Amino acid sequence: MPSACEQTGRKRNPDAQSSDRVWEAAANGYDRAAETFQPFAEWLAELCLLREGMSVLDVACGTGISSLVAARRVGRQGQVVGIDSSPRMVEIAGKKALTAGYPQVRFLVCSAESTCLAEDAFDAVICNFSLHLFHDETSALQEMTRVVKPAGKVGWTVPAPDHAQEMIAAFARACRELRVTTSSEGHKPLKPDLARIHELLERCRIRDATVSERRHVFCYEKPEAYEQVLRARMGRLLSRAPEDRRAEISQRMLAALLKDNERLTFTCHAYGIVHGKSLRG
Ligand SMILES: C[S@@+](CC[C@H](N)C(=O)[O-])C[C@H]1O[C@@H](n2cnc3c(N)ncnc32)[C@H](O)[C@@H]1O
Repeated sequence: MPSACEQTGRKRNPDAQSSDRVWEAAANGYDRAAETFQPFAEWLAELCLLREGMSVLDVACGTGISSLVAARRVGRQGQVVGIDSSPRMVEIAGKKALTAGYPQVRFLVCSAESTCLAEDAFDAVICNFSLHLFHDETSALQEMTRVVKPAGKVGWTVPAPDHAQEMIAAFARACRELRVTTSSEGHKPLKPDLARIHELLERCRIRDATVSERRHVFCYEKPEAYEQVLRARMGRLLSRAPEDRRAEISQRMLAALLKDNERLTFTCHAYGIVHGKSLRG
């Protein structure tokens, strides 16, 4: 079993618990869409200048896609710690690290907002496509800057306007046609806009951030491969609909995307934000 941070025993609020359930349920199929995260994990490693011998924290590591990219870069002289609130994600990540032969990586079940990690402990802290999901993104970003060394780098990616546009449009259309009312209660906005990102940086007293952008359109030749990626990535969207309607919505979404989207595309579009430790006081 994966080890847990001491503080994860703390009670999470109901919204956070419901988000935890969505991710725990998504864990087994998550790697079916791994190739859509991989280029962004590589990009984040470049933005943070990860290299031999560094110590890296991967926040909300999921099944360890970014942690393993980091492990390759820091080599056996370095170390990587991946944390995630989903025990199943952490378990899968641990098995993958073992199979890949990376003893320099370990994984912990731990919430991003409150970790048991020491202050000033890491050369770099990375967080790929996750900060926008946290119940309390301010506390999470403060925690990320607390544990980075004074000269270290904190880097994170979040979805930008075009991200998953095909899937989101198909979801909205299916809900409209089936007369399903969706709820965003307890859910974060699907995509943080630039104003929201700058507000967050300001709240955390981060003044040295650079923001860049990357877009990648994945095209699939085989409908089966495309469907697999869509299924792996639609869980969070579907959780906005009532549970008893999700099956028919996903069926309608898949049928529409396979029929209307001739090039079978999935668009990933992200902002990448890099900065140092936040100002104190
Ligand atoms: C989009 S996925 C992970 C992406 C992963 N970073 C990658 O590169 O593949 C989001 C992850 O955030 C985790 N998560 C959500 N809220 C969290 C929180 N408050 N603390 C830690 N992990 C969280 C979920 O369990 C899930 O594994």
